[in-house]
Amino acid sequence: MCSLSLFGHLSNQLERLCELVGADSAPAVGLLDNLLGPVGSRPLSERPDWPSNVADDNTPVEFSIAFNADGHPILRILGEALGPQPSAATNLSAARRFLDTQADHFDLSMYRFNLVQDLFTTENVRGEFGIWHSIVLQKGRQPDFKVYFNPEARGVDRSPDLVAEALRRLGLARSYQTMLDHGVRPGELARRDRLTFFALDLHDRAQARVKLYLSHHGAEAQHVVRAASAVDGIDGAELAEFCQAVGGGPGPFDDRPLVGSYTFTEEADRPVGYSLYVPIRSYVHDDEEARDRVAAVLERYGFDSTGLDRAVSAVTRRRLRAGVGLIAHASLRLGLPRPGVTVYFSAEAYRTYPPRPRLVPASAPPPAIQRIGRPADRSAA
Ligand code: TRP
Repeated sequence: MCSLSLFGHLSNQLERLCELVGADSAPAVGLLDNLLGPVGSRPLSERPDWPSNVADDNTPVEFSIAFNADGHPILRILGEALGPQPSAATNLSAARRFLDTQADHFDLSMYRFNLVQDLFTTENVRGEFGIWHSIVLQKGRQPDFKVYFNPEARGVDRSPDLVAEALRRLGLARSYQTMLDHGVRPGELARRDRLTFFALDLHDRAQARVKLYLSHHGAEAQHVVRAASAVDGIDGAELAEFCQAVGGGPGPFDDRPLVGSYTFTEEADRPVGYSLYVPIRSYVHDDEEARDRVAAVLERYGFDSTGLDRAVSAVTRRRLRAGVGLIAHASLRLGLPRPGVTVYFSAEAYRTYPPRPRLVPASAPPPAIQRIGRPADRSAA
């Protein structure tokens, strides 16, 4: 029934999203093609042969739109390059090939990457991935690139040392300590507060950043407020309000974890920016509920929610009530590099998760949404 290829499916979505943000679609589609490599030509009807954790249904690509106070929205592709016969080792080679090609073509700065990559790129990667990529597309500009390393690549228990060494090499050891002091609940480092992504910008303009992500399992809004206090000038009440508005309550968020990220620069001895990512798909019944919550938050920040609706129509034709997970995360960015709200969209190349029923007996109180199980058959991301 479905002879469309993975590349065909994703490039249709990408073209429409490019139009929405005013970015050139032909080069963007070329980058997608290069990222997917031979895997792109596989028909959607074939099961994915690598359980990519980029998205719940194993599509190795996720799109996001960053709404910014000071300009056009920015489109980003998060993706995992896969080997022709995917395995931890062949995927790493595919990632390197993609980076080499782009570094040549766009004259990327690989300096920071080369300083730390040996820590994270072991042949027998543990955990979920070796390297992920982000391609940043905006109107009138060359694309930008980021890489994400996996701090748990040598095992969860080694993640704190790996990150400490990487940040030491990058001259950011003091910021890391500040982050640990605030961001981690006592005794929970590499337990319920896990170091999940280590991200680098591949350019050397003044705003080049290093970002570190912490996943807070079973956390409440108050925990991320504390975590964000590592950064000067963050309004905790604003963060808690975002958490509640998107997540549907103050927590605890016992399904997919809240994730926080810290932005580091060499000039400061503490992190200079904080973002909170709420995995909204675990805390709603269906995508209509997710859309309504995110639209309300966008409006509160002065963004026109028609941008959200246009993005939704760019990625899917299905009814929002017919599934859950299309809107995967919503994030609030505070401080540097630029404040705003970002919305993450699943490509749903392989599957749509069924909605959680909204029906409740007329007299019963509404269900505690946080306790509803995660969609279908994947274990926690
Ligand atoms: N799918 C994974 C997760 O939900 C990884 C991921 C994709 C992610 N996009 C993200 C994590 C945005 C945090 C924020 O954890």
